[in-house]
Amino acid sequence: MSRELFDQALQAAQSFHASNPALSGFQPWPDDITWADRASMPAPCMDLVQTQAGDTACTHSHASETLALQQAITALAPHVEWRLTYTEEEVGVDFLGRFGWFELVGPTGHFHSTQARMTVGYWGDGLYYPWHEHEPEELYSILSGRAEFAAEGEDTLTLRPGDTRLHASLQPHAMTATDQPILCFVLWRGEGLADDPRMAA
Ligand SMILES: [Fe+2]
Repeated sequence: MSRELFDQALQAAQSFHASNPALSGFQPWPDDITWADRASMPAPCMDLVQTQAGDTACTHSHASETLALQQAITALAPHVEWRLTYTEEEVGVDFLGRFGWFELVGPTGHFHSTQARMTVGYWGDGLYYPWHEHEPEELYSILSGRAEFAAEGEDTLTLRPGDTRLHASLQPHAMTATDQPILCFVLWRGEGLADDPRMAA
């Protein structure tokens, strides 16, 4: 049943967090996690998460934990509360058909916590995630596929499984998935954890 899949994904996320100093240094694992029993909400992208994951090869020392979390998220994909956040005017119809995110842990997550927020995001190949910003800091971890990450004041980098990227509070950033989709696990910290990002004007 799906509750087991949620528990397996949470366990995989905790092992992934413990295996990667970039994540464990960003924020300790929360000790207030409780099951929130949120309803699932389908989105068009959830099939793509399972059928078009992109490359999973990871060259980091935490490769096995990265793959385990990617597989746990893939198994969980049909059961989560997918969110799209943006409007067709902001991102276009193709984007909304091949993008989605959900909150695994956090103030409005499948697992409730007020100490941390952990989300998962998926973008199909060729999608451009426009410049945006938000108050909380976010630490991206790539689980599968690859994309070009751009952030104001920094070099644009292509990130692959196991790589991380930190976005500072209110630092504008954008992302382009070129020839691969991308699946990301994102940690958030700071003020405004429940706020939606703002697209740049
Ligand atoms: Fe962001």
